Parts: sequence; structure tokens; C-alpha cells
Amino acid sequence: MMRVLLVEDDFVTAELLAANLRDFGYEVTLAGDGQEAFAQIRSGRYRLVVSDWEMPGMSGAELCRQIRRRLSSGYIYVILATSYADVAHVVEGIEAGADDFLAKPIRPEELRVRLRAGERLLALEGRDVTIFALAKLAESRDPDTGAHLERMREYCRILAEHLGRHPKYQAEVDGEYVQLIYLTSPLHDIGKVGVPDRVLLKPGRLDPEEFELMKAHTVLGGQTLEAAARAHPEAQFLAMARDIALTHHERFDGRGYPRGLSGEQIPLCGRITALADVYDALTTKRVYKPGFSHETAKSIILEGRGTHFDPDIVDAFVARESDFLAVWHRFNTPSPPLASGDLDYPAVSAAVV
Ligand SMILES: [Fe+2]
Ligand SMILES: [Fe+2]
Repeated sequence: MMRVLLVEDDFVTAELLAANLRDFGYEVTLAGDGQEAFAQIRSGRYRLVVSDWEMPGMSGAELCRQIRRRLSSGYIYVILATSYADVAHVVEGIEAGADDFLAKPIRPEELRVRLRAGERLLALEGRDVTIFALAKLAESRDPDTGAHLERMREYCRILAEHLGRHPKYQAEVDGEYVQLIYLTSPLHDIGKVGVPDRVLLKPGRLDPEEFELMKAHTVLGGQTLEAAARAHPEAQFLAMARDIALTHHERFDGRGYPRGLSGEQIPLCGRITALADVYDALTTKRVYKPGFSHETAKSIILEGRGTHFDPDIVDAFVARESDFLAVWHRFNTPSPPLASGDLDYPAVSAAVV
């Protein structure tokens, strides 16, 4: 049962509304003013708040600002109830961080549908957090990679955003696509949960048998996500996650794995993730190699234009390299990339399995 915190200074109105909300299946806590409400919110038990705007002391808008100012483990959905429905009021409410408004006197049916909308939004947040937690779990066996997933999804977002401006990609890449790749790219290596430790954690170069085991992470991840996608055909993100897991090690020239797809046989999301993954592997320190400088990584990626990588995506990377650097700095790892004189080129292939 979802809990609702109802903030209302008028006791009679509050009791009436609370009774309605309980009928709708919510568990309701009443707070008589903003101060009391804020103390309740700090308990961490509430995700849905319905607050009167005009109250003595702290107003509903001020309460909203206080909620947005504090760090919380999850999003708090706030609906403000007001008898002034003018534009200036609404603007102030939105600026304060309110999610929705209700006209007073509150009609219970309207409140019910607005709370449902809030619940849908909170459920989406839950989905995103769960996806990232799963990805982190898979990565936790591979302690060397630091904030790899955080950086990689930013790189994917930058590349997708840039490609979306290109007429060739406009039909496929819209804002939704950019969001989806940001959401799902952290799942690319989820199949590594099925790779034995002796292979996954081996500091040196992998022998051919070990390399085969490592390569299997693409198929394992792809199959797992495919099963989930089949069970939930409406969940587009599962289909994209599957494509990414399966194809992020394919190469544009067909010399990648697991299937040796080439060119546009490789889904766009796989081609984007491939570059983002390699760039991050190159620019961060791993057990078997130091981190390369941005310049070195860039020259390696340019060398792979049209062979390892889709030329359009390499061009997007070059156009947006300052954004890549900004992300690298934002998730700075304790050891910055070396200035130059990095390892020799063959080490690169080991860096990006
Ligand atoms: Fe991988
Ligand atoms: Fe990766």
C-alpha cells in the first residue's frame, strides 16, 4: 500500500480527504503544517505528498523547496492544492519543484487520478534504479573498473544526441532513444556474471580458451535479456539492452564477436556502445594496463574509423570530444590518464574485452 502524506491546516478538510484516500487504498498520515510535514518527510517513509498551498507558517511552495533541497534516497512526488489557479501561481509552484496541482476545493476523484499519475512516475524511477543496480551487481566482480558504467552511459548519451542531429539518423534517434541508451548501456556486460573468476580477474593476457569464455559474456547477457524482452514485449528498453549486450563487441568490418556482424547489420545502439566502451577502457587504468591519455585514445579510435568503428560514430566522437573529456573529469578516477608514452597498441585489444 502506498503512503500519502497529507498536509492541510484545516482539520475538517484534512479528515475528509484522508477518509477518501483510505477508501482508495492509501495509507494516510496527516500533518497540520509545513514544519510537521517536513519532519515526517525526513523519516524517509513518504514518496507521495499532497499539500495545501496556503498555510500559516511554511507555505506549500516553501515545503516543496525544502523537499527538493534535501538529499533523498528516492524521488518525492508533490501535489500542491491551491484556490488560486493563475499563471503566476503555477509558475511559482513549478519553480518550487511541485509535480502537479489541484484546484481547491479538492474533488476526491481528481486527487485519485493525480496520485496514480505520481505513482506511475515513481515506478519508472524504480525501474531505472533497478536496472542500474543490476548492472552494478554484474560489475562488482570486476573491481577494477571504478565508475565505468557511469561514464559509459554518459558517452553513449553524447554520441546518440549528436547522431540525432544527422539527417541519416533522425528517424531512429530521438529524445526517447537517447534516454533509452542512457538507461540500458550499463547492462552491456551483464553476461560477465557467467564468466569464471579465473578468467574475469586474470591480470595477464587471456589464452585462446580463456578468451572464448570471456567472449561468451555477450551471448549470455543477450540471452538473459532476450528472455526478459520476450516476457515483456512492451518494455522497449529490454530489447535495446539485449541488442547492446549481444553486439557491443562486434566490429564495423565484421571482425568482432560473437557473430561477426558488419556495418549496419550491427544495431546502432551496439555500434555506439562499442565506441563508448573502448574509449573508457582506454582512458582508465586496468590491472593489465595504465590509463591512456585522451589524445592517445583518440588516435587509436581514429585509426579504427571504418574498421573497428562506424565512421559516423567516430565523427560524432571527434565533434564532441570536449564533452567526453568533461565526463572523464567529472567521474575522475584516482589515477589520471598518463600524458603520453602509453602501452603499445596490441595491449588495446586486451583492454576492451
Ligand atoms: Fe563487454
Ligand atoms: Fe564495458
